[in-house]
Amino acid sequence: MSARVLLFTGKGGVGKTTTAAATALRCADGGARTIVLSTDPAHSLADAYDVDLGDLAVEVAPNLWGQQIDTQARMEDAWVDIQAWLYSVFEWAGVRAIEAEELTVVPGLDEIFSLSDIKAYADDGSWDVVVVDCAPTAETLRLLSLPEVLHWYMNRVFPTTRKVNKVVSPLLGRVTGLPTPGDDVFGSASRFYDRLDGVRELLCDTTRTSVRLVVNPERLVVAEARRTHTYLSLFGYQVDAVVANRLLPDEITDPWFAEWKARHAEHLRSIEEGFAPLPILRAELAGDEVVGVDALRAFGESLYGAVDPAERLTDGEPLSVDRTSSGYELVIDLPFADRDDVDLGRRDDELLIRVGGYRRALVLPDSLKRRPVGAASLRGGRLRVTFAGDAGATATVGRKRAGGRR
Ligand SMILES: Nc1ncnc2c1ncn2[C@@H]1O[C@H](COP(=O)(O)OP(=O)(O)OP(=O)(O)O)[C@@H](O)[C@H]1O
Ligand SMILES: [Mg+2]
Repeated sequence: MSARVLLFTGKGGVGKTTTAAATALRCADGGARTIVLSTDPAHSLADAYDVDLGDLAVEVAPNLWGQQIDTQARMEDAWVDIQAWLYSVFEWAGVRAIEAEELTVVPGLDEIFSLSDIKAYADDGSWDVVVVDCAPTAETLRLLSLPEVLHWYMNRVFPTTRKVNKVVSPLLGRVTGLPTPGDDVFGSASRFYDRLDGVRELLCDTTRTSVRLVVNPERLVVAEARRTHTYLSLFGYQVDAVVANRLLPDEITDPWFAEWKARHAEHLRSIEEGFAPLPILRAELAGDEVVGVDALRAFGESLYGAVDPAERLTDGEPLSVDRTSSGYELVIDLPFADRDDVDLGRRDDELLIRVGGYRRALVLPDSLKRRPVGAASLRGGRLRVTFAGDAGATATVGRKRAGGRR
């Protein structure tokens, strides 16, 4: 049985680490074998538990282990070989050396190794729950869009060599002139590829992975969380709950706070309405910083109450393909997306989707690959793209704005 993976993200300082730490502790207290991972180089997860954490998992409480992933070290181990080979490929392809040098430094590549660590834990059978304390939103989005982007890229760089076995690859090298990686390079490149491939599958499997968005009752924080929700959905990640943290407690009756309380109540309402039907988990502002196992346990208790923190807290799918009377419909949840923010295009077997500053080259499922795109519309936070029933010649549509009203 694969573990459940819970990712916590949100704007800087909203309480991601606190929430991730408290959630992991509550899972462990409930009997689940739990590991909590931090990808944030600032050692805040260790600070939250008030223990030392390093690159090896450490027991924090019964059933609960923690680890601070050293992405840099992980990358240096694996990447050197691949880089050398890629460099020769770029040179062969006529890319000038200076550009090749730049190209081989794929941005965010170090971070991919923290994702593959998540997968390794999720698959190894020793854990029921893997909790991930992510970096603030922008970095998390970059990180979570990487598997898709690199998958695309790898499919174009590796397809020939990847399928060629040791016996024929020297021959291939001679015939095409394409530098074939030596055994060591080929080995680490394909291991890297395989790790990456599984990561995407795991993180986009809604029964296994859920993302929880942490917010505070503040306008800008909520606005950012809405955009994050949209972009996460674009890449196929499911947000299953919103954590509203730092709500002013009812006990506070000091008139000085009256205005703040009214403001919080208003923001909480807009969070509930805006993110419906997602459940909103609430945590009040504590009298002091939430540090140490006892404080985190109390925090987790008030946050989840009777709810099992490891459960998937919502249903629905960020992406689905439905049969219709006239063909097929691809439905992608893009909550909060505006019509003007969305662009669509088709290139061979890929659907190119741009939402705001993010792009996805969605490789179409087999059932849709050879079908021409009909219409596209964006209504109620759902992008619907229809594909004709006739799997005839692929019509290549140019760039197209999503039609329909919001
Ligand atoms: N409900 C709360 N009541 C009181 N203090 C809180 C609450 N939630 C978080 N804190 C405190 O706020 C500080 C920041 O919280 P935390 O580190 O969890 O935020 P973060 O979102 O992980 O921040 P970063 O973006 O820097 O990673 C910590 O000192 C934490 O103890
Ligand atoms: Mg943090």
